[in-house]
Amino acid sequence: MLVGGLGTRLRPLTNRLPKPLIPVMGKPLMMHVVDALPPEVDEIIIPVSYKRDMMEDYIARTKMPVKITIADEPEPRGTGGAVKNVEELIDRDDTFLVLNGDIVASVDLSEFISFHKAKGGIASMTLWEVEDPEPFGVAQLNEDGRIVRFQEKPSREEAFSKLINAGAYALQPEVLDEIGPGFVSMEREVFPKILPKGMYGFGFDGHWLDCGTSEGVIGAHVTLMEEYGSYIAESAYTYNTNLMRPFCIEPDCRIVNALIGPGTYIGGGSVILDDSKISNSVLLPGARIGRDCELDNCIIDENTKVTHGTKCRNKILTNPIETG
Ligand code: GDD
Ligand code: MG
Repeated sequence: MLVGGLGTRLRPLTNRLPKPLIPVMGKPLMMHVVDALPPEVDEIIIPVSYKRDMMEDYIARTKMPVKITIADEPEPRGTGGAVKNVEELIDRDDTFLVLNGDIVASVDLSEFISFHKAKGGIASMTLWEVEDPEPFGVAQLNEDGRIVRFQEKPSREEAFSKLINAGAYALQPEVLDEIGPGFVSMEREVFPKILPKGMYGFGFDGHWLDCGTSEGVIGAHVTLMEEYGSYIAESAYTYNTNLMRPFCIEPDCRIVNALIGPGTYIGGGSVILDDSKISNSVLLPGARIGRDCELDNCIIDENTKVTHGTKCRNKILTNPIETG
């Protein structure tokens, strides 16, 4: 599982938390990936350099469905370098998966593995269609589902298809021999090199949510709230508050005279005071929003106090309340 980036697009949230531990619908991002693993997977290897202690700590106190091995990555080596770095830990006799850890997707990985084995290529990649492929890796398929071209982060003019790399690969162990030493990008260096050996693309239905940016994290909440249905915990207290779907209000929140617009997730124990308006935003547990605030498209970090009258769009606010 690749989780080792610095999460720069989610700063300042990722100054406190490594990206895999950012909660999405109250569950750390990495657990969405872990919970989607099929029974064929018997071990998860996670190369980590950034905030390794926090990752180890979280894994030690969480019940995991399979063995997890955290491997030391002395410094970020890129998506290919990170895989090469744990080569010794990978079973040489079988297919292995590489998963981008910042994606929540409804792909059936069992089906994906079967597809990979049936195609008989050296590699397979999950694919998803988007309107704007520029921030992603782009693939072009032939009639047989074989990837004939791949380009990471093309310019608008260069983008030759709307099918993007959805961030899960099934690989034969020989791929490891194609990864050189040092910093290596799987997408820029390894994939173009192995295409001639047979790499296949696997599409799927449902959702694909890239949580590598704040719009992505907010968008993931909105999609999942739409899918699961709006929810308000019994122990949440609301008074004279207008709630617009989809919303999710976790236990022990206190919301008074507020307008909660569509697409708002409110983590447990949060407080929202008079005349505040919040829409399309994620409040992590214990957020405190003062009077007369307007927040749109924001992420509010855990226990963060937003002072009265704050008007804010497209921002991540972090500001832990001093205790006592
Ligand atoms: N261990 C380790 N070491 N992990 C890394 C490193 C590294 O040096 N660099 C990145 N990662 C992890 C990230 O934490 C993330 O989970 C995954 O590898 C992909 O890296 P990102 O930095 O998030 O890449 P991206 O989002 O710009 O693009 C990638 O994902 C897209 C789909 O979301 C590419 O794989 C694109 O082709 C793809 O379309
Ligand atoms: Mg990413």
